[in-house]
Amino acid sequence: MSHKLLQNKKGIIFGALDANSIAWKVAERAYQEGAQLVLSNAPVALRMGSIHQLGEACQAPVIAADATNADDLKNLVEKSMEHFGGTFDFVLHSIGMSPNVRKKRDYTDLNYTFYSQTIDVSALSLHKILQTCYHLDALNEWGSVVALSYIAAQRTFPGYNDMADAKATLESIARSFGYHYGVKKKVRINTISQSPTATTAGTGIKGFDDFFGYAEKMSPLGNASSEACADYCISLFSDLSRMVTMQNLYHDGGFSAMGLSPLLLDN
Ligand SMILES: NC(=O)c1ccc[n+]([C@@H]2O[C@H](COP(=O)([O-])OP(=O)(O)OC[C@H]3O[C@@H](n4cnc5c(N)ncnc54)[C@H](O)[C@@H]3O)[C@@H](O)[C@H]2O)c1
Repeated sequence: MSHKLLQNKKGIIFGALDANSIAWKVAERAYQEGAQLVLSNAPVALRMGSIHQLGEACQAPVIAADATNADDLKNLVEKSMEHFGGTFDFVLHSIGMSPNVRKKRDYTDLNYTFYSQTIDVSALSLHKILQTCYHLDALNEWGSVVALSYIAAQRTFPGYNDMADAKATLESIARSFGYHYGVKKKVRINTISQSPTATTAGTGIKGFDDFFGYAEKMSPLGNASSEACADYCISLFSDLSRMVTMQNLYHDGGFSAMGLSPLLLDN
């Protein structure tokens, strides 16, 4: 059901790879709520994934950008402003990748070139996107930027590996840039700490099925789906959450507030 919460709003959505991607669901919901969109992903994802189908469904151009590359990001933001006919209102950062996770390197045996790539792709890319928008003055007053995080930023989930360090950095960037962009333009910047979700990035984590099941039992409401995450993103892009900024917002069915669940003790 549409409430037209994003009527007259325009935004860039990073990270839709396939129909399981959280960004895919956010794009569908944003379009349904009346937003005009530009979709972006890394060049390789444009070749391998099905993002062009989403672009057609949402009447959105798809513009390639490696989110670690400042020139790509400048080109993307400039082209988006041409497309929108001016500045825009929201950005979704839904980007994560760890070569150490992919190559099954343990946290006690990390490859440091990979480690730098993890941090660059999964965290510094948020800073690069924000800095590009800031310098081009691309975002409207009361604009909203949301990045997706995970509770391994605060608590230890050994299988999450170096992604935990990336998420801690990501959340810190949201707070630090949230100050500067808030003062300059009243732009708000938040992270959503999402439940485990069965996507390409999610299922690549060692032991995903186990911690998906564990979180499902630990959370009074169960794990939050990607569709529910999309709804939450829409509320943060909308004018209904204008005074929320620099926060890490748990979207996890209550997982983060739990200490012990009888459901887990029974097994
Ligand atoms: N799936 C989960 O369990 C879960 C839980 C909490 C948070 N998250 C976060 O949600 C976000 C989206 O992940 P997802 O679960 O939808 O998986 P996904 O694999 O569908 O999305 C990850 C995206 O990152 C993109 N990407 C990788 N390198 C890039 C680069 N250099 N430039 C631009 N884009 C690049 C990929 O192409 C892909 O589209 C990630 O930040 C992830 O860490 C996921």
